[in-house]
Amino acid sequence: MLSDKILASLNRQHGAEIAAFYLYRAMQSYFLDHNLDGFAQWMNTQANEELEHAGKIYDYIHDRGGAVKLSAIDAPKQDWKSPLEVIQDAYDHEKKVSTMIHDLIDEAVSEKDRATEVMLQWFVAEQVEEEALFDRVYQRVKFAGDSPTALLLIDQEMGARPTSGGEGEV
Ligand code: FEO
Repeated sequence: MLSDKILASLNRQHGAEIAAFYLYRAMQSYFLDHNLDGFAQWMNTQANEELEHAGKIYDYIHDRGGAVKLSAIDAPKQDWKSPLEVIQDAYDHEKKVSTMIHDLIDEAVSEKDRATEVMLQWFVAEQVEEEALFDRVYQRVKFAGDSPTALLLIDQEMGARPTSGGEGEV
């Protein structure tokens, strides 16, 4: 049985994962509007991964006999000045999610909820991968600077990411 505190935090994390899906959808739309189809496809894959993350927490809450409580999702930011700003925001968002996961683990430890602690280990490893992935893209887009040619080359590489959630090479 989940404690009220852990249940509330898991529900909050579930909402945060859905909010990340929403944010990455907005970013996908930005890239489509700017004819950067590779970036858009990459962001679509990322958005879908966020739904998978939410689903893991959703299932876990039910497995532990808890009730999923859905709350309103705020509209995400939808205007950016450049592709670099989009990627920077996405990278910052992943760092924020990592902090949330770590805080949730601290709570699970203090509540002696070993099952939740173990379940969250998957997210710790996932966040390491995601931060590395976003950092790599961020560094490459930053390196491209004002060169449309470099940006289009990166766009091609981004489009090569598997759509089923693989991390790809970029
Ligand atoms: Fe579910 Fe990208 O954090």
